[in-house]
Amino acid sequence: MDSFDLFEPTGATLRLGNDAVVLREFALGRVGELFPAIVAVEAASPLRRMVTPGGLTMSVASTNCGMLGWVSDQRGYRYTSVDPETRKPWPAMPDVFASLATLAAAEAGFPGFEPDACLINHYAPGARMSLHQDKNERDFGAPIVSVSLGLSATFLFGGHERTDRAARVSLHHGDVVVWGGADRLRYHGIMPLKSAQHPLTGTERINLTFRMAG
Ligand code: SIN
Ligand code: FE2
Repeated sequence: MDSFDLFEPTGATLRLGNDAVVLREFALGRVGELFPAIVAVEAASPLRRMVTPGGLTMSVASTNCGMLGWVSDQRGYRYTSVDPETRKPWPAMPDVFASLATLAAAEAGFPGFEPDACLINHYAPGARMSLHQDKNERDFGAPIVSVSLGLSATFLFGGHERTDRAARVSLHHGDVVVWGGADRLRYHGIMPLKSAQHPLTGTERINLTFRMAG
């Protein structure tokens, strides 16, 4: 028989493409476990604002967990196994992170997703993520799984060219976006965060992005 599980995915599915969906509130049942895990990761590898290869400081504050972490500096974008700030390996990916990402990917039609990298981004009011493709991963066969927590934001989901018109989708606390397959390399971004208050995150939005990078 079924084992007892407090986690019950809720909410609707919004289709953004053949291989791209928003799973509304999919992470909601796990939020109580996600927050202490985020705090523990950030205690080991503190948030920092990375610099782009062009020399601009990113508006989001970031860290990573898992075998690999995404970094940006004057030399470019890449994945590393060691946090350049602490010079220690990135903190291990918490089990609750990995299991949520695997479950969300399967729900979206990508069974067997085992992420080796999780980028944690914190958005304060005004912070944004300009349109980009996720293409620093070795193999594009695995999907991207992106978990939204705290304040709502407007997600931009474009096409395969930077200039393609982008759909605007509001992402709320607990929503999970999954894109892979034919949609894996679509441009995407986040509009500047509007000031508001959230009972769990105050004036912030937190995003967890899971990838198979190595
Ligand atoms: C990203 O594409 O790296 C972040 C997306 C998000 O914050 O929802
Ligand atoms: Fe991205």
